[in-house]
Order: sequence, then structure tokens, then C-alpha cells
Amino acid sequence: MKNISTAILLIATIFMSQLPAASQTVTNVLVDISKPIARVQPTMWGIFFEDINFAADGGLYAELVKNRSFEFADPMMGWKRSSYQRMGLNATTGETIIINTDEGTNRRYARIRPSGEGYSLTNEGFRGIGLKKQHDYRFSIIARRGVDTDIRITVQLKDSLGNVFATSSIVPASTDWKTYETVLRPTDTESHAVLVLTFEGRGVVDLDMVSLFPAATWKQRPSGLRHDLVQLLADLKPGFIRFPGGCIVEGRDLSNRYQWKNTVGEPAARPVMVNRWNTEFKQRQAGDYYQSFGLGFFEYFLLAKDLGAEPLPILNCGMACQFNTAEVVDLGELQPYIDDALDLIEFANGPSDSKWGSVRSRMGHPEPFNMKFIGVGNEQWGSQYIERYKLFADAIRKKYPDITIVSGAGPTPDGELFDYANKALAELNAELIDEHYYKPPEWFLTNAKRYDGYSRTGAKIFAGEYAAHTTAQVQGPDRSNWEAALAEAAFMTGLERNGDVVHLTSYAPLLGHLDAWQWTPNLIWFDNLNAYGTPSYYVQKLFSTHRGTNVLTLSAEGKTLAGENGLFGTAVLDSINKEVILKLVNSSTSPKPVTVRVSGTKNVGATATVIELASMDNLAVNSIKEPLHISPNQTVVRINGRNIKLTLNPRSLVIVRLTVKK
Ligand code: AHR
Repeated sequence: MKNISTAILLIATIFMSQLPAASQTVTNVLVDISKPIARVQPTMWGIFFEDINFAADGGLYAELVKNRSFEFADPMMGWKRSSYQRMGLNATTGETIIINTDEGTNRRYARIRPSGEGYSLTNEGFRGIGLKKQHDYRFSIIARRGVDTDIRITVQLKDSLGNVFATSSIVPASTDWKTYETVLRPTDTESHAVLVLTFEGRGVVDLDMVSLFPAATWKQRPSGLRHDLVQLLADLKPGFIRFPGGCIVEGRDLSNRYQWKNTVGEPAARPVMVNRWNTEFKQRQAGDYYQSFGLGFFEYFLLAKDLGAEPLPILNCGMACQFNTAEVVDLGELQPYIDDALDLIEFANGPSDSKWGSVRSRMGHPEPFNMKFIGVGNEQWGSQYIERYKLFADAIRKKYPDITIVSGAGPTPDGELFDYANKALAELNAELIDEHYYKPPEWFLTNAKRYDGYSRTGAKIFAGEYAAHTTAQVQGPDRSNWEAALAEAAFMTGLERNGDVVHLTSYAPLLGHLDAWQWTPNLIWFDNLNAYGTPSYYVQKLFSTHRGTNVLTLSAEGKTLAGENGLFGTAVLDSINKEVILKLVNSSTSPKPVTVRVSGTKNVGATATVIELASMDNLAVNSIKEPLHISPNQTVVRINGRNIKLTLNPRSLVIVRLTVKK
């Protein structure tokens, strides 16, 4: 957080002295700390992870080799065989053939037979391979040599011009499959390197699971997650992590649905599957988008634990994406899907001698993960969903009554499908309903009171996917702009105010690769070397890291502050640090003087911490070059007497923390 010395109060004074009287109408805000209206759920501000935009392979999962086990539909996708020109024709000094064993889940491997010097295979990585100067990279392969074979494999990291950054070599010595490893340390930084394997000698060598990972993964776990990306997530202090999506749960058809059991156990044995986002959008085709499941359910649970977040898995409910094939499983054949849910609970929470608990234990985590939530279906709608949800809910409640089940209200936040789902789910005593909304900024501003009228006795709400989608004519990462972020902030004051009803919330999607995205906007953008949080990221971070413990009443002239005069506000108590935390948004283009009075306390501290996120430029974004262009500024201001006088800068989110004594 930037710590600039300009006090907001000072800015306020300047604005106030220069503005015409009409602009100086003071909004009097009253915060009552004597009667907190709800507990802020520890899960209030969470994160939504989906493998979209190369968020897993090519992103969070730090593997740098694409199609490492030759299991893509085109087994050589991502790989290039070396060739040279002889008499105008392509000639080669060797051959690679793919052997399909038709056995197990990792069925294919590559057989290499060099016939001259310098036959090579080049892997292009995920839109290139990112290398950092003088950092260690762990290369490994599973290989075996043929009889009468003597082959050396030279392993190199190069740029597209052929400049070599690192070299090592491996000699597969055994005729049995064996893992060979070496470490490469690049002499320079490069964002679009390639991995080149050069084979010299006589005979044949078989290769599988060709892999390259940075050594400096998150917590230095071998074959782990990208450190910078996990750090950005950790900095959000998320209350939960939803995974693995999103529509990826559903699949375009059922054969393409996410099946968690295929994502645990030995990574080499996890069956590779095409990613449903590969050709979803005509204008953003990614035929090379697959799921290795190296980041699978065990790794998601571990990540949740690392982040101190509740794990919240969402499972397929026997329905494929209704925007695609809408394939459904007959109700009479749903049991295997229900068993997947029951088995997952055992995998996460069961004793290590139970069937699925033992899988978790063998993977290195004998202690339970203590999972509390499970989602049934992603964004399904209509009676087909309700019928299937009911069968799941009955089975889960019977066997695991302590697990909270998340149900879905469909893809829209209102309308016929939404109303139908809510009515039907209420009849089934649904506990937690997942609502999704991707809407223009204006919608977020005018819907800040959305939850004020919700029943206080019915199901709780999981705002499981939301983001403001700018209407400005901008593309790609430029859609993650300040206009959207500020509208989200205004809306989020309404989420917080209704903390008795809204128990979990998450912006979506989380991650986008700058060279390989399908969907915008996203909360975090990254390339092969760097990552940055968007303005929306800093909004999420401010709400989450100033979440407090109890929701307080904040009013202006006796009314909720939710859009009048462009102002939005909410307040929480932090009972641990004995502080009141205000979150105020000025969505207008003029400064707004505000006087805050805290009732129910004899004393407020002599100073307050003020954190501001502001810009007059709706189109302002962060970027790799300027990752903190829109980021919070913190300052400390003096308070004179019991009234706190502030002027909120135009287009700003302001957090005020002040000490209170009873
Ligand atoms: O967040 C991107 C997509 O939006 C999710 O996969 C889906 O649930 C929603 O439609």
C-alpha cells in the first residue's frame, strides 16, 4: 500500500474552500455501535477459482511444459520436431513416433529414434516459457532406453532466436521406466523461451511426463503453484475458495464435466482432458487449452488451507452446461454422481483408514481438511435442476448433516428462472443459494439495496459470481477498469450491510493470462513472468482485509446510505481491535463533505486511519508496467471532537478506521 503524506482532511479543506455552496451540502452520517445487527461471517469475502483464461495450466499450476505427456488429441501439439532443408525438401535427423498403449490413463508416450546428430524436440510452453535469470528450474522426464541404445539428451532453454540460456543433459540408463531429473539455471530473464531436447547417439528412447517447474514455487513445493499468483491470493485474506468453477464443472457435455476423482492421486496418472473453454468463443479460440489436472482437488484443498480459507467445492449434478448441450443424466442413473459428492466429503473429512480418506492420507495429508460446504451444480436452471438437487440434498443431509449445501439460482439475478429456482429451493429448505450477476456498472450502483428486502429467515445468500462489466469500448485487460471497480465497491457496501443474509461473496473470474484469455474482466492478470491486481482486486482487498466482526447501523438522515447523492456507506465493528471501520463510496464526480458521528461510545480515538482508492478516470487500469496505478493510499488524520469531518474525493472508495472506547 502506498503511504503518501497528503492527508485526506487537507484535500478536503482545499476542496471545500474552492467549491460553490451547493456542492458543499454536508451529509451527516450516524454510526451506532451499541446494537450490532449481524456478525460478519468469516466467509464474507472469498475467491472464485475456475480454470478459464489459462488460470490453471499455464497459470497457477507452475508447470512450464505444455502437453507434457503427449495426451492432447493431437499428441504432438505444443511440440516441434527438428528438421532441415535438403534439396528443397524437409529432412530430419531422427523420428518421433507416438506409442499408444491403450492402457491406464496416461496411455501415450513418445519414442525417439535419432538417426544423425542433433535431432531435437522443442516445446513451446504456454504461449512461451517464462524464465527468471539465475533462478533454478527443475527439469524431469520419465524415460527408458531401448536395448543396444546409448543416447544422451541435451536439455536446453532458448529464446526464439536460438540463444541458449541454460543447458544440462540426461542419459537414460535403464531399460525400465525411470524418472530422471536435472536443474537448469538461466543466465537471463526471458518471457517467451522454449525447451529444447536434443537426442544424440544410437538406439531408441521412450519419453513421458516431460516437465519443467520453477524451484521457487509457493512454499517451495515440488511441482507446485506459481508463487506470485498465490501471494496475490493470500494478500486478499479470502474467507473461502470456491473451486473448480464455474461452467467447467458442467462441461460442454457430460463426458467433458469435471470429475474430481480423476484429479487426485499420482499426477502422471490423472487423465488429461480438453478444457471446455478451448473453443467456446469464436473470437478467442484456444485449441491448445487442456487440463492436466496437475492442479487437482488435493491441491485445491491444500491451497485453501494455506490461505486460511474454507474450501468450497462445486460438483456436477448430472447436468452439462445448459448454454451448450444441456445433456442430463436420467434421475434413475444419478447415483454415481451423488456418490461422487458423498465420496468427496469422505476424501476431505474422513478418517485416514476410510476408502477416500486413505487416498488423501497417501497423498500426504492424514489430517482431515475439515470441509464445511459443498455445492451441487454450478449455474443450472429449471425443474431438471431442482429434481436433481433434491436427490443430492437428501443423500448429503442424511449422511453428513453438518455439511452446508450450496444450491444455485441459475445464471441471472432476476427473471422467471431465478424466481422459479428461489421458490422451489425454499420449498426444499435450501440453506445457501448461489446467485450470479455479470452486469454493467450502473446495475451495481442501482442495486446496492438488493438484499435490504430479502427475507431474514430464509436461505442465506452466496453471491458466488459477480463482476461489473464496463460498457466502455475497451477490450481485454482494459475492461478491468476503475469504473467497474468503483461500482462493485458501491454494491459491496450493500453486501456488507446485509451480512445477516449474505454469508459468502466472490468476484469472478479470478485469473486471466494476458496472452491467452477467453473472458474479461478478471480480478488478476498475469503473463509468463509477472502478475498484477486490477482496481477490482484492490476493492476486494480493502473490503476483505477490513472485514471487522459485526455489522453496525450506518444511516444518513435516518436512511440507509445507498446511492443518494452518489454516496454509499456501511460500517462494521472490529471487536478484537476495538475499532469502527467505515466503508464510504462517492460515485459522483464531485467531492462530498461528510460528517460522521459515532453513537454508543463515550470516546473515539484522537486519530483515524484513512485509506483511499480513487481516480477521476473511469478507464484507468493497472498493468504489468504500472501494477499499482490504481491502488490504495493510506494516511492518518486527526479527529477534533466526536464528529469526524471528511470530504470524499470524487469517484472514491474510502475506508476509515477509528478506535472506540465504550
Ligand atoms: O466466470 C465465468 C463464467 O461465468 C462461469 O464459468 C460461469 O459459471 C458463468 O456463466
